[in-house]
Amino acid sequence: MSTPLIALTDIQKSFGAVTALRGVTIDIDPGETLALLGDNAAGKSTLMKVLTGVYQPDAGTISYAGDTVVFENPSVSRAHGIEMIFQDFALADNLDVRSNIFLGREVKRNLLGGLIRILNNKEMTARTRTVLDSLDIEIDPRLKVRRLSGGQRQAVAIGRALAFEAKLVIMDEPTANLSVAKVEKLIEVTKRLKELGIAVIIITHRMDEAFAVADRIVVMRQGSVVGRFRPTEANETDIAHLISHGELPPSHAHHQPETKGARLS
Ligand SMILES: Nc1ncnc2c1ncn2[C@@H]1O[C@H](COP(=O)(O)OP(=O)(O)OP(=O)(O)O)[C@@H](O)[C@H]1O
Ligand SMILES: [Mg+2]
Repeated sequence: MSTPLIALTDIQKSFGAVTALRGVTIDIDPGETLALLGDNAAGKSTLMKVLTGVYQPDAGTISYAGDTVVFENPSVSRAHGIEMIFQDFALADNLDVRSNIFLGREVKRNLLGGLIRILNNKEMTARTRTVLDSLDIEIDPRLKVRRLSGGQRQAVAIGRALAFEAKLVIMDEPTANLSVAKVEKLIEVTKRLKELGIAVIIITHRMDEAFAVADRIVVMRQGSVVGRFRPTEANETDIAHLISHGELPPSHAHHQPETKGARLS
């Protein structure tokens, strides 16, 4: 059995009287694409915020390549190659594509023997081009982000992740506001990330999207994992039923979800 890239074990998180996570265990292998499904308020975003150091869990552990880690804040998880792409993509509208990709992590060069450090725009432009090319996306790195379409903004957000050697890219409902064509492009990009050996966790309400990209599907409900499947082990109807009722339809009773925390072969 290979060591997972990330393992979250028995994660619990409450906000005052609201229990968002009731002991959640999931793991993801290097290069694996995992679809995280569940109804509103199931705890998906909260779980990902624990993984990215936005929230600290009340209980439970995170391990990275087999070692227990504490992600005190998002910079620490990011330093481990974990990049979260938020639904609004959190880009700076007034800056160009290149600056957005390097925002907060600018490449600088020395002048006067290191007395002065200035931005290395040439290198950042070149690296921006390389990253967008590797995703098969054509955008001028000098274009202001405010002039981009939703799909292009998303590409920039993903490019931002790639430029810094992400090991895991998390996408929280990336297709919520996209047209059909853009959804297809995102599915392509997700597959491309897989080819590049980057693990992906994609949170979505769209079953077709989950089945199109995922190596594994994990279903959450009311703060717990209620099912884990390979896409061949269940169909969209089964999963939809599981999402809303917490159990599979009677006709598919043989597809019992695995016991908590167990790994598929
Ligand atoms: N910062 C917070 N303060 C208080 N309650 C919160 C906070 N964040 C999440 N919650 C609560 O935790 C529960 C899980 O929310 P979460 O956002 O993780 O759900 P989700 O599965 O991402 O849902 P959605 O599909 O609607 O995005 C909800 O009941 C939500 O109201
Ligand atoms: Mg959410």
